Amino acid sequence: MWKKSKFIIFAILLLPILLSIFSAKKASFPLKLAIEREETEKSLQVEGKFPDWLEGVLVRNSSIPIYQDGKQVSHEFDGLAMLHGFAFNKGEVFYTNRFLNSQQHDAVVNKGSSQYGGFATQPSFFQKVKDFFTSSSQWVNNASVNVFKYGNHYVALTEIPLPACFDLKTLNTLGSFNYQDTLPKGKCMESAHPHLDASTNEIFNCIVEFGRQSYYIFYRMREGSPIREVIAKVPVDTPSYMHSFAMTEHYLILTEFPFFVSPIDLLIKNKPFIHNFTWQPEKGTRFLVIDRNSGKVVSQAVTEPFFSFHHANAYEIENGNEVVIDIAAFSDISLCPFPKPQLLQKMNLVGSED
Ligand SMILES: [Fe+2]
Repeated sequence: MWKKSKFIIFAILLLPILLSIFSAKKASFPLKLAIEREETEKSLQVEGKFPDWLEGVLVRNSSIPIYQDGKQVSHEFDGLAMLHGFAFNKGEVFYTNRFLNSQQHDAVVNKGSSQYGGFATQPSFFQKVKDFFTSSSQWVNNASVNVFKYGNHYVALTEIPLPACFDLKTLNTLGSFNYQDTLPKGKCMESAHPHLDASTNEIFNCIVEFGRQSYYIFYRMREGSPIREVIAKVPVDTPSYMHSFAMTEHYLILTEFPFFVSPIDLLIKNKPFIHNFTWQPEKGTRFLVIDRNSGKVVSQAVTEPFFSFHHANAYEIENGNEVVIDIAAFSDISLCPFPKPQLLQKMNLVGSED
């Protein structure tokens, strides 16, 4: 019995060493980025003509693919976040781009490792342990999905808190935007597509908090405030993957697609984040309509199963008694641009799936 226990302890101790040898072998091929050059106010050739009165900066972010030994080793959602700025001035356009100075950028550029956790990328064993025990408020996240303005701060967003602040002119990273509240700042999902109510300058967003009891949480941030005020907290046992939500004048609408995760799987299963979710079409797609002021669920409806990333538009008719939502829908999850397990294996992003 004692011998068997010793063998198990030895095997557990040996595992990280074997993994580190495997990682070191992979690192022998240097990582390359699809774009490596950073420009500063580079004058762009303009075809046609911009109006002279057009002034300002258009900023977007994107995910820059990572290659190793000639193969792409990052899923298209998990490349390194880059900010792109197009400054307009009297008909001229000047381009600036900067990588977000994130922990993932540090891992790739300074440590030669692409095995950080992402949407569809599996973290290394060490990274998973480190992520679990380290507070994410000390990190700058790889925020490649969207940009927004929170008060006087320009921020880049991804699907987890915290947003990353950047300088509008230089696009240099300024650190994480620190919410001044007690809502989760890690180990949860936060939509990268908040809504701004331009009539009140309030920002509305949704969190999926994972736990023994999970919750869908809607919150608002009043103009210039870093405090997320809870509007509604809806308990759920197996949360859905939701990239965005809808908002109208009086309502917040959560579209719960039948693509569910058991939160414990996120903790114990050695799979990329999105591969812990399962498609359960028999449950249909559920709409939860929440009153923006009272936070009460005022209506629910279940319809045929479908999945979507983006809500395009939502509005009220019949004096607010009906809500219309425009949504880009997939009838089946297999039609979505999620990577197939076989493709991930080919890209050396994961081991075999069970
Ligand atoms: Fe999106």
